[in-house]
This record gives sequence, C-alpha cells and structure tokens, in this order.
Amino acid sequence: TTGAERFVPPGDDLERLREAAATCEGCPLFRDAERTVFGAGDAAARVVVVGEQPGEDEDRAGEPFTGAAGALLDRALEQVGIDPVSVWRTYAVKHRKSARVGPTGRRVRLKPVRGEAAACRPWLLAELNAIGPDLVICLGGTAAHALLGPEFQVSVQRGVLHELETPGLRRSASAVVTVRPEALVRLREAERDDAFAQFLADLRKAAEVLR
Ligand code: URA
Ligand code: SF4
Repeated sequence: TTGAERFVPPGDDLERLREAAATCEGCPLFRDAERTVFGAGDAAARVVVVGEQPGEDEDRAGEPFTGAAGALLDRALEQVGIDPVSVWRTYAVKHRKSARVGPTGRRVRLKPVRGEAAACRPWLLAELNAIGPDLVICLGGTAAHALLGPEFQVSVQRGVLHELETPGLRRSASAVVTVRPEALVRLREAERDDAFAQFLADLRKAAEVLR
C-alpha cells in the first residue's frame, strides 16, 4: 500500500478509472470502508467539487454527496447560479475513514491523515485530467491540501481565487476553497445561518470564474 498510482489505468476514460478505483488498495482505508466512492456527475463539467471523503450515506450508496451534506451543497450551488447537475463531484479520499466507538460499535468519521490523502491523490488528478474543468471548488482542508499544498489554511484563505499549479495536473484551473458542508450540517441552528451565508459568499466568488 504505497499509494494509488499503480492502480490507476492510463487514459482519460472516467468509467475505466471508476472501475479500477473500485479495487484500489493504495492505502489501508479500503479495509474498513464498504466501497470506493468515485466521482460522479457531468464528465464535461466546467466545475469539479472536491470534498474530503465519503460520509456514512455515501459509503453505503457508493455515490458522492447523496446525504444531508450533499443536499446542502446542491442548494448552495443553485443559489450562486451553478447548476448542481452540471458539476462533477468527488472526494480527495475515496474510501471513508471511520472508527468504531461505544458499545454499539457505531462508526464515526475520522479525518484522513496527510499520507492517506497523498495516497489517494492519483485518482483525483486522473479525474481532473480527464475532465479539464475551469474551476475546482475544494470543500475543506483535506481537499485544499491535496491540490494547493500542505501550507494552505482554510480559515485564512477561503473564498479567495487561486490558480492551481498542482504537480501532475495537465491543465491549470481556478480554485476556491470553502468549508466542508458536513460541518455546516452539524452546526446548531443559531450558528448555521451565518456559516451558510459565508459558505455562499465563498461559492459566489467561485462562480465569478464561470462568467
Ligand atoms: N465527509 C466529510 O468530509 N466529512 C464528514 O464529516 C463526512 C463525510
Ligand atoms: Fe485507494 Fe484512495 Fe481507497 Fe486509499 S482511500 S484504498 S488510495 S481509493
């Protein structure tokens, strides 16, 4: 398990990539998750949205952003004039990282570590190279670090237009970083309104690229 590289087939065929990713053993995360959750959406998308990792719903469904966070994300995209159907959604880490807790053995999310994100990055780069978007929206630090480098600080640099110069990326793209919609879903109502407004402001900045 020294990264996904050796599992990634050559070429830009997204379905071939998806099939290959289903049996990736590029890092230990495949052992505890139900399945690989590869990206999905419009293969000709101008916008690629990169989340951190599948949540519980997505791990079960095998499709990205099918749960509450995905619904919130779609609502926000719509509000800034980006048709959710026209984007490609994916994750920086394609197997869910979780741990069993308590007597019921309930699974809770664990944040992927840098090595896991690095191991999985070849899949993300392959998707981006196949699609060639104009804009990449990174949801949270894990996605931002994968594409903009380990020094990126979401709290300081969110909502700002960046140019991707990620090694391995064939075509540059604009990038905007915001927070994980999963984090917004979990906020109390009183805090959620402000946080959602900030989320929208970040996405509005991103949408400027498309005009
Ligand atoms: N994906 C994330 O990025 N965060 C979660 O909490 C769950 C899924
Ligand atoms: Fe492969 Fe990524 Fe899954 Fe690790 S998380 S096994 S690198 S697909």
